[in-house]
Amino acid sequence: MRAYKAKAVERIELPDREAREHYLREAGYNAFNLDADAVFIDLLTDSGTGTMSDEQWAALLRGDESYAGSESFQRLESAVADVMGFERIVPAHQGRGAENVLYGALISKGDYVPNNTHFDTTRAHITNAGGEPVDCPIESEPGDPFQGNLDVDGVRELASEVGAERIPAVVVTITNNSLAGQPVSIENLREARTVANDLDARLVIDACRFAENAYFVTQRETEFAGESVADVAREQLAVADAIVMSGKKDGLANVGGFVGVRADDDELYEQARQRGILYEGFTTYGGMAGRDLEAMAVGLREAVEETYVESRVEQVAELGELLQEVGVPIRTPTGGHAVYVDAGEFLPSIPHEEFPGQALVCALYREGGVRGVELGELAFPGTERDQLVRLCLPRRTYFRDHLEHVAETFAAVAERREELPGYEIVDEPEMKELRHFSAELRPI
Ligand code: F0G
Repeated sequence: MRAYKAKAVERIELPDREAREHYLREAGYNAFNLDADAVFIDLLTDSGTGTMSDEQWAALLRGDESYAGSESFQRLESAVADVMGFERIVPAHQGRGAENVLYGALISKGDYVPNNTHFDTTRAHITNAGGEPVDCPIESEPGDPFQGNLDVDGVRELASEVGAERIPAVVVTITNNSLAGQPVSIENLREARTVANDLDARLVIDACRFAENAYFVTQRETEFAGESVADVAREQLAVADAIVMSGKKDGLANVGGFVGVRADDDELYEQARQRGILYEGFTTYGGMAGRDLEAMAVGLREAVEETYVESRVEQVAELGELLQEVGVPIRTPTGGHAVYVDAGEFLPSIPHEEFPGQALVCALYREGGVRGVELGELAFPGTERDQLVRLCLPRRTYFRDHLEHVAETFAAVAERREELPGYEIVDEPEMKELRHFSAELRPI
C-alpha cells in the first residue's frame, strides 16, 4: 500500500504513434535526447526525479540563504548525524561533487581502489584523481539475497598483487547500482571493515541508496529481522570511516549531496573541506541553495520511515512482477530502485553488436512513450556484459496504473519482437565511455 496521497499533480501526455516515431528519429534513436514532455512514463533514472513531500515543500520557505553559517546547514548537519551517524559533513551540489571532494583528498597517482562495483561517476572521479578503480563484486546466483556484496577475498588478492600501501580506500556501494540495484549485507560490510583495517585503508560507503539497502537488511538478514529501518540504516554505516552521498536518491531531494566524515578524523575533514570550498562552495552551503539544504534535511528523515521505504521497495518489486507476468526476463529478486530487463534474452534475434538493449529502449518509447536506459554494449563498449535495460522508478511518483502501462507496452513490443531492427552508431563522442549520453544511432 502506498503510504502517501497526491497533493500536487503534473499533467503527462502520450504523444500519438506518428509523433513518437518522429521524436525518436529526431533524437537520433537515443532516449537521452528526447524532450521530457514527449515522454509518458519516465523511468530513465531515480536521481533527483522524485516527488517531494508537503513537509519538504514547507521547509523550502525556511531556507536560510546566508553565505556563511546558514541555519539550514545546521539542520542538514543534525539530520545527517541523527539518520546516518556522521557528525561532520562537507556539502556538495550532488553526488559526483562529493566524489570529487572525497576521492581527490584520499587518492594519489598510482593508487588502486576496490569497490563492489563502481558507478560510472565514481570510476571517473577515481581515475581523475590518478587512481585505478577495480570492481570486486561477489559471484552470485539469481535469487541470492545479497548479490550486491563486495568480494572481500578479491580485495585481499588485489592487495597482495599491488601492495596494501597502494590501496588508500576500500569502497562499498549500497545498494549496488551497477549490479542491478542489489543490496549489501551488514555481515559483508563488517568483513569489508576488517579488510580495510588489515590494509590500513579507509572504508568508504557510497550511501546514495542507504535507506533501500537498510530495508533489504531488515527483510533478509536474520540478525536484523524485526529491527527498524532507521536503526539498521545507522548500523550499516557505523563501520565506515567516510560516506559519499547523493541527496538526489535517498535524500528524497531534487539536488544536493555531501561527504560525511568522522568527528575525530581532523585530517580528512580538513582536506575535504578545503576541496569543498574550491570546487563546490563555502562549507555551509556547498553548491546548494539554503532551501535545497532544508529539503534534503527533511528528506533524509523521511527516507528511513518504515511506511515510505517499504512502499518504495515494494513498488519496484510490483513492476518486476507485472513484467514477469507478461514473460519479460528480469534480474531477480528485484533491487531497490529499478527493474533490470535482460534485453539480450528478450530480443534474441539481435546480436549484441547491434545493441539489443537500445533496440528495446527505442521499441518501448515507440510503443508506449516509456523511457528506460540501456546498460549494455552502448553504455559499456567492448565489455562482455549482459545486455540490460534499466527501468528506474522515481520515488513517490507513479502509481499502479502507470506500472500496468509499462507492462502492456512490453507485451505489445513482445508481439513484434521478430520485426524489431538492431541499431548502428552514426555519431559518437571521442570519449567512448560516455557515449550513451550523446551518441546518435540508426536502425539497420
Ligand atoms: N554513486 C551512485 C551509486 C550513483 O548511483 C550515482 C548516480 C552517483 C554516485 C552520482 O550521484 O548523480 O548526484 O552526481 N546515479 C544516477 C543514476 C545518475 O541514474 O543511477 P549524482
